[in-house]
Amino acid sequence: MITINIKVFDTKEQIAKEAAQMIATQIKSKPDSVLGLATGASPILTYEALIEMYKQNELSFKDVTTFNLDEYCNIPKNDKNSYYTFMHETLFNHIDIKEENVNFHDGNAADTEAECARYDALVEEKGGVDLQILGIGNNAHIAFNEPSDEFSKGSYKTKLTDSTIEANKIYFTESEMPQYALTMGVENICKAKSIILLAMGEKKAKAIKNMIKGEITPSVPASILQSHSDVTVLLDKEAASLL
Ligand code: PGA
Repeated sequence: MITINIKVFDTKEQIAKEAAQMIATQIKSKPDSVLGLATGASPILTYEALIEMYKQNELSFKDVTTFNLDEYCNIPKNDKNSYYTFMHETLFNHIDIKEENVNFHDGNAADTEAECARYDALVEEKGGVDLQILGIGNNAHIAFNEPSDEFSKGSYKTKLTDSTIEANKIYFTESEMPQYALTMGVENICKAKSIILLAMGEKKAKAIKNMIKGEITPSVPASILQSHSDVTVLLDKEAASLL
C-alpha cells in the first residue's frame, strides 16, 4: 500500500521552511523544473522563504516554469483579488522568474473549454509538473475541485460551493466574490511527479483526517492523493489533531 508521508510541525514557519527546502532541492536538481503553484493563505510563508533564499543567492528561478492551479472567472486579470495578482505580489515580483514562464488559466476567456484545453496541453508540452504545491479546503477540495460525484479529469469551469465562497469572501471587500473559476482537474493534479500539501489550523483537521484515513471518494476530493506515489503532507498540530 502507498503511504502518504506526513510531517507534523510546531509552527507555521517550520512548515514553510520544510516546504521551501523541498522546492529548492527540486530546483537545484533540475533548474528548468516545472512547478505547480497554489494560492491561498497556506503557501504564503513558503513563498516568503523562497524569496529569502533567492535574496541570499541560494536559489534562482530563471529557468523555472510555473502553472497555477486555478483562476477566478469574470474578474480582470489585474484585479487585486485575481490569482494572477496574488502570485505576483506574493512571489513572482520578488524573484528572478521570467514572466513568460508563469502560467495561469485565462478566467475571462470567451471559450472556456478551448482555454482549458490550451492550458492542459501547455502543461504537457512543458513535460508535466515536477512538483505541485497544494492547499486543502475546509471541505477537502484541492484547487477548486469541490466535493462531487466523480473525480474531474482535465481543467474545466467550476461553480464554487457555498463553503468555498464563505472561506474566500473575506478577501472581496470591494467587489462581489466570483461564483465561478477555471481549475485544473483532479487527474491533472495527480499527474505531478511529486506533491506537497500544506495545511494549518483546526478548521482543516476534518478534511485532513478524511483525506488520509477515509476512503478514496470524489466527495473528499483530496482523498485521491492516497493513490499517488509521492505525496508529502506538512501539517501543524491543529490540522493533524484528528489523525
Ligand atoms: P487556504 O485555502 O490556504 O487559504 O486555507 C486552501 C484552499 O482552499 O485550497
